[in-house]
Formats: sequence, structure tokens, C-alpha cells
Amino acid sequence: MSSVKQEKIRDHYDTIADIYDSHYDCTKGKSYHDHISGYVMDALPGSGELLDIGCGTGLFVDRYVRNGGTATGLDISRMMIERARRRCAGSVFTLGTADNLPFRDNSFDAVSSLLVFTYLKNPENMLAEAYRVLRPEGKIAVCTLGKKLLTRGIPVLYHISEKIRVKHVVMKNFGEHYYNEQEMRELFSSAGFESIRIQWCSFAHINMFDPLFSLASRMEPFVEKRVPQLAYNICVSGEKPEH
Ligand SMILES: C[S@@+](CC[C@H](N)C(=O)[O-])C[C@H]1O[C@@H](n2cnc3c(N)ncnc32)[C@H](O)[C@@H]1O
Repeated sequence: MSSVKQEKIRDHYDTIADIYDSHYDCTKGKSYHDHISGYVMDALPGSGELLDIGCGTGLFVDRYVRNGGTATGLDISRMMIERARRRCAGSVFTLGTADNLPFRDNSFDAVSSLLVFTYLKNPENMLAEAYRVLRPEGKIAVCTLGKKLLTRGIPVLYHISEKIRVKHVVMKNFGEHYYNEQEMRELFSSAGFESIRIQWCSFAHINMFDPLFSLASRMEPFVEKRVPQLAYNICVSGEKPEH
């Protein structure tokens, strides 16, 4: 049984929507988010209709629309959605949960989800729903913290941070689950996706102090290519088959 605390996640993001947005819109945060967004963009068609699951304040929706597509965002947090509406006035945003999408079958060309998957109580249901709403030959790309040496201590760190009341954008214990490569492949494959591709990305972390962040950013391409064991985000993409 999953220990993910969905109401706690929603309440948390309702409270920190503005802080979250400025956290990822400042120099280091933007560089980090742009980096992972690049991986997701590369796995999706550049134009067409996108659904971004757990869209937050609309950072990826904004990028996709600027690239020439149209996008809809869905999130459980009303305040994150409000912030997203302000950022992307021309896009549609809907309040809802990832495992029960309020959209018709075969209605999107692409589905994205960034930094959300670890929060899902039922990742199988999210992927089944994503498959249902995608058109045949539609693409999905999910980027999230993966299970790695560097991320193994995070749940404990978050637990302790919460106990000693550290005020931080994400340092809370939500019962998150991190997945390794094999688990992600099985989840995507069981949902029916084909052409599954898994890449590890991100070495520079937004919480690093500045000189260290710059150094890690410069090393990032090398780490991702040659030492992916040190990269901590997993980016998984796939395609809904034609028939
Ligand atoms: C770390 S933020 C990422 C936001 C955005 N994708 C981005 O890249 O900036 C996680 C987001 O997932 C949303 N979320 C968490 N669980 C969800 C669920 N079950 N269904 C929909 N959204 C969810 C939260 O409300 C929050 O906005």
C-alpha cells in the first residue's frame, strides 16, 4: 500500500505556490528547470496538443506554447493552477488528479509530467489515464527524481527537516516513492507504451551554493553521458502504438 499523502501534498502546494514559482524562476532554479524541460521537450512532438499532468505554476506549459504547440495543464493544487493561469493566459488549466483525468479518449498528441511522478499514489492509474487520453502515435515524457545513490537519503532528510521545522519549498515528508530504471520500464510497458527510452539527467542541484552549482552545471553534460549513476532525475518517454 502506498504511503503517499495526497491531501498533504495539495495543501503544501496551495501554501507555497508563489514561493515555488520564484524558486524556479530565479537564476539557478530556471537553469535547473530549463535543463529538465529540454529533455522532456526533446521526447515530444514540437507542436500539437499537450496535456501537462501536475503542471504546477505552468513553467512547462509556457515553454511548450512558446515552442509552437497548444497546452492544457492539470494539477491538484488550486493555488498552483491560479499562478499558472497568470503565467499562460492563453492555455486551459484544470483542477484534478493525475489518476482520473477529466478528458476524452484520444484527445492529446503529447503528455508530459515533470517532478510529479514520485508523489503519485497510483502511478499505474496515471499511466493508464495518460494512455487513454493520448491519440494513437502520441508521445509521453515523464521526468522525476529517480532512485539513485544520491537520492536514497532524501526521504530521511525530508523527515528530519519536517521534525525540526525547516522552511523549504519541498523539504517535507510526503511518503514519496523513487523509482529505478527497471521499475519505470515495467510501469510504462504494462500501461501499453512502446519505444520506451530512459535517460538520466541533472547533476547541478538548486540547493548547491553558487560556485559549486556553476561547477556542477559545467560538469553536467559529461556526467549525464559518462557517469549517469551520478545524475539524479530519470526521464522516461514512450509512444502509444498506432493500433
Ligand atoms: C514539484 S511540483 C512540479 C510542478 C511542475 N510540473 C513543474 O515542473 O514546475 C509538483 C506538482 O505536482 C502536483 N501534484 C502532486 N500530486 C498530484 C496528483 N496526484 N495529481 C495532480 N497533480 C499533482 C502538485 O500540486 C505540484 O503542483
